[in-house]
Amino acid sequence: MRTLRDPVAGRRYDPAAMLDESPGDGTTPVLSVVTPTFNEADNLPLLVEGLRESLAGIPHEIIVADDDSPDGTWSVAEELGRSDPSIRVIRRFHDHGLSAAVLDGMSVARGRVLAVMDADLQHDPSVLPRMVETLDAGDADVAVGSRATEGGGYGDWAASRRFVSWVATFIARVVLRVGVSDPMSGYFAITRRTYERGAPGINPRGFKILLEFIGRDRTLRVVEVPFEFRNRIHGETKLNRSVIRSYLLAVAELRLGRQVDPAFLLYVLVGVVGLAVNSIVFSVAEALGVPQFTTGLNEALDPIYGSFVLSVFVSIVVVFILNNEFTFWEQRYAGWKLLPAFVVFTGMSIIGTLVHVGVFSYLQDVGFLLSLLGDAGARTVHNLLGALVALIVNWYLNTTYLWRRRVR
Ligand code: GDD
Ligand code: MN
Repeated sequence: MRTLRDPVAGRRYDPAAMLDESPGDGTTPVLSVVTPTFNEADNLPLLVEGLRESLAGIPHEIIVADDDSPDGTWSVAEELGRSDPSIRVIRRFHDHGLSAAVLDGMSVARGRVLAVMDADLQHDPSVLPRMVETLDAGDADVAVGSRATEGGGYGDWAASRRFVSWVATFIARVVLRVGVSDPMSGYFAITRRTYERGAPGINPRGFKILLEFIGRDRTLRVVEVPFEFRNRIHGETKLNRSVIRSYLLAVAELRLGRQVDPAFLLYVLVGVVGLAVNSIVFSVAEALGVPQFTTGLNEALDPIYGSFVLSVFVSIVVVFILNNEFTFWEQRYAGWKLLPAFVVFTGMSIIGTLVHVGVFSYLQDVGFLLSLLGDAGARTVHNLLGALVALIVNWYLNTTYLWRRRVR
């Protein structure tokens, strides 16, 4: 993917030139603006007004893709559409979600350029003509409304939200090697050709629709157009913390394709965090002198190290919570059901530990790779293989019995 400097910066845009290129039957717009909505009844009339002003002179249509909003956004849109035929409404009853709504809107769009814009007035419509002109002139395939490039801004964002956005952007740039400064932007435009080439491969789950287009096709020419992100006045944001998870899943899938189940990667990530927690708790407990105790049950068992038991328990709790709230968000347990779920999870962790120890002792007994690696080396490898088998067994048990996943 190449990132261009804005080729039209400083050039004056000429709506008449665009009109000349349109088929001239008066029905085919140059631009389709797709706006996904969920509970934006107060914002929609203001959005339409703003677009009407900015897009004067550009033949356009506005496609409202609404997820059957309880506040009746769809009916407000239909009402607006009665006096303005350029407004089209899709009232969606199924497959709710931001990306899915945008894709539905795009699939019925008739323009040569397809733009996506939030309905909550956070996206400044005055930069849209610049984006459209660049694409329609054939100077780029994608125009991104960017908050991060020179001249753009994030408005009054809290430091924490800025940080999350910075990390997400960093991941996109490093893992997916996209050269855009604001790959998380929900404000962008693409040419019809780019849409038609990209759409069939897109995963409609989630909210990172721009990333789906630019993350898959490295040949796209992308231009960034700066804008200042405005604050929301009416309504509230719908993006909750599951967004972070769905984002990581999307990045993993874009990078690795669909051979590896991306949820498995989250699961492994959580496992690594669990290991870190385990060793930290263990060291701290040792330093504090948590005592040993004897059960008197079995000689091989005694004495039991208090710090060992504590660190295993704490890491099981942490891993359970992270898996419940993060890896398996869609199947998560809440309320009193957390307790039996935790007991089952602990049972599975014990099975996993037994598998780990079993594989380890078996490999020790048969002396696997012993002559090649020596005593210490072989022990390390036996231990790692044990952990690996236990990890896979646990994944199987967890996804089969605890966080059962519906087949898509
Ligand atoms: N149809 C539909 N279905 N629309 C939705 C849904 C949904 O499930 N969720 C949100 N929307 C609409 C909102 O009504 C709004 O018009 C737009 O999508 C953006 O949603 P917000 O809830 O306002 O998102 P945000 O402001 O927190 O996030 C914005 O910035 C992110 C990056 O920081 C969006 O532009 C994101 O796309 C962007 O990634
Ligand atoms: Mn918003």
